[in-house]
Amino acid sequence: MTILITAGPTREAIDPVRYLTNRSSGKMGYALADAAAQKGHRVILVSGPTEIDVPDGIDFIPTESAADMYQAVEYWIGKADIAIFAAAVADYRPAQIAEQKIKKSGDTLTLELVRNPDILGSARSTFGFNGVLVGFAAETEDVEENALGKLERKGCDLVVANDVSRKDIGFDSNENEILLVYPDRIVPLEKASKHHLGHQLIEVVEGMITPSNHQ
Ligand code: C5P
Repeated sequence: MTILITAGPTREAIDPVRYLTNRSSGKMGYALADAAAQKGHRVILVSGPTEIDVPDGIDFIPTESAADMYQAVEYWIGKADIAIFAAAVADYRPAQIAEQKIKKSGDTLTLELVRNPDILGSARSTFGFNGVLVGFAAETEDVEENALGKLERKGCDLVVANDVSRKDIGFDSNENEILLVYPDRIVPLEKASKHHLGHQLIEVVEGMITPSNHQ
C-alpha cells in the first residue's frame, strides 16, 4: 500500500533570518515512515525541517512552512491508501514576511499573525481523500476530550493522542505513551519507544484498510 506521512515542525518566516516554529523533533513521524517502509509499503514522507536522517527506501518531500506542506500534501495525497498526519503544523504565520532583516527600534515589537490552513482538516473536504485518515493530537490537558473533538471535526478514522505536558514522553523524547482514539472507543497503548510504537501503529492502520478505502 501507499502511505503518506507528514512529520516534523513547520517554519514560518518572519524575515530573511528569523522564523517561528515549535518543539516537534519529527521522531514519531520518521519512526512511522521507517516502520512502514520496512513492512514493504511505499512511503511518501512530507517533512518539515528536522535533524533526522531520511530513512532508506522512501519518497522524501522536504517542506518548510505550513503553506509548503499543504501544497505537497494536496499534490501527493491522491496516491495514498493511508494518510498519517504526525506533523506539528504551526497554527499561525506572520501576516507579512519582511524583505529585509527587521532592525531593532522601539522597546516592543508587535507581529501580526494570520491562521494557517488546516492540512488534515482539508484532507476529506478539499482534497477528497477517502482512504484511512489518521491524525495526531498533542495535548496538555483534557487529552481524550480534545482528541475526540479533532477526530470528529477533521473526519479522521483514528486520532493518536498523547499528553505533551509530561516531561518523559512526547516532544523530542524517544518514548511516547499514546491513546488510540476511535469514533466509538479508546485504546491505550503502553509507554514504549517511538520506534516500537511506529511498528504497532503501522499494524493498526493496516488493519483498518477495507475494500472501500483501498485505492
Ligand atoms: O494542531 P492540532 O492539534 O489541531 O493538530 C491535530 C492534527 O492536525 C495533527 O495530526 C496535525 O498534523 C494536523 N494539522 C494539520 N494542519 C494544521 C494543523 C494541524 O495537518 N494546520
